[in-house]
Amino acid sequence: MFHFTHPVPLSLYVHMPWCVQKCPYCDFNSHALRDSLPEEQYIQQLLNDLRQDAPLVRGRPLVSIFFGGGTPSLFSPRAISSFLLQVQELLPFSEGIEITLEANPGTLEHHDWQEYQFAGINRMSIGVQSFQDHLLKRLGRVHSSEEAYRAIQYIKQAGFRSLNLDLMYGLPDQTQAEAIADIERAMSLQLPHLSWYQLTLEPNTAFYIQPPRLPDDESIWAMQQEVLPRLNAAGYQQYEISAYAQTGKECQHNLNYWLYGDYLGVGAGAHSKITDLREQVVYRSYKTPHPKHYLRATERFAASHKQVQLSELPFEFMLNALRLYQDIYMPWFTERTGLPMSFIENRLAEAIQRGFLEYQDPYLRTTDLGKRFYNDLVQIFL
Ligand SMILES: C[S@@+](CC[C@H](N)C(=O)[O-])C[C@H]1O[C@@H](n2cnc3c(N)ncnc32)[C@H](O)[C@@H]1O
Ligand code: SF4
Repeated sequence: MFHFTHPVPLSLYVHMPWCVQKCPYCDFNSHALRDSLPEEQYIQQLLNDLRQDAPLVRGRPLVSIFFGGGTPSLFSPRAISSFLLQVQELLPFSEGIEITLEANPGTLEHHDWQEYQFAGINRMSIGVQSFQDHLLKRLGRVHSSEEAYRAIQYIKQAGFRSLNLDLMYGLPDQTQAEAIADIERAMSLQLPHLSWYQLTLEPNTAFYIQPPRLPDDESIWAMQQEVLPRLNAAGYQQYEISAYAQTGKECQHNLNYWLYGDYLGVGAGAHSKITDLREQVVYRSYKTPHPKHYLRATERFAASHKQVQLSELPFEFMLNALRLYQDIYMPWFTERTGLPMSFIENRLAEAIQRGFLEYQDPYLRTTDLGKRFYNDLVQIFL
């Protein structure tokens, strides 16, 4: 009863693990750059890593590539271009492939942004966090609000039509008026995509060890109540808890993650999830996390490689897909878990009966109640 028939859409994630300095709230695999960037050496290792994994996905076209970090914009357009050219020799690109690069406005002076476009990047994701200088300082950011604003203008002028801006809210001592002002400034730039994250205190960060004073739950709720209608009125639809897009401008790379597509991860600490049609199994793996060790790796880049158990597949699919605030096309459940819908029939019935889900063949939708009680909802599929 467990059978994969179709290749699952495939994305490539490329991790760039260095930043100008480490932000005190950040638990990503990112490291302050102390010496010069080992650009050539790292690109070579990324390619060695990819060559090792390419046979697992041979012939399958890439629907998206995402350079994430860290701060990928520390890497020159020339390095990105040379990497992409060599990727294309290993794996075909599908028509309309989305290729995103995460950029920090603090790296503005280093490159000509248009060169990234010539290198093949067609989507930029800019980490701004806030447009208030005093908050940027509290967040340990390496750029001012003005520099962020200028970077966005340059990137727009360079001709990128697909753009995302990262903002955070619930910042140390942030007022409701400041959170609204940030969103209004972002909306005035008329970018097609906004990510609006609530700041969380993550273990292993400076903020966790010495927590700043954050707005209380009531203020956070008030910020959300004020901001969501503004975003909707400006034409942004929320399609995931932190993601807002104009129609048709959703991030294809993230959608592929959330819809349980496959992704190959290269670079320090990068994660992969690959469906092997020949062996009829799903693998998860991640690469050696520390950049120093990754740079030195000679034979194996993977630090862990394991098979996902049959019993875990429905939960994994639901955990991801139910984050989306849009209809889920359920034939993808069978395509991407290899299991028939009958496998989750009883659990679906329970979730529908409790008012968390609605099913209108072939689409599944999370109700407002389901969104509010997301944790209870996904537990049903555990
Ligand atoms: C890898 S960073 C992206 C780009 C680049 N490194 C930068 O910061 O400019 C991804 C995004 O995650 C968000 N983020 C990071 N740490 C967070 C935290 N503790 N809570 C909420 N959002 C966070 C930030 O908005 C950040 O821009
Ligand atoms: S938030 Fe971005 S710039 Fe700051 S440390 Fe994390 S990855 Fe680096």
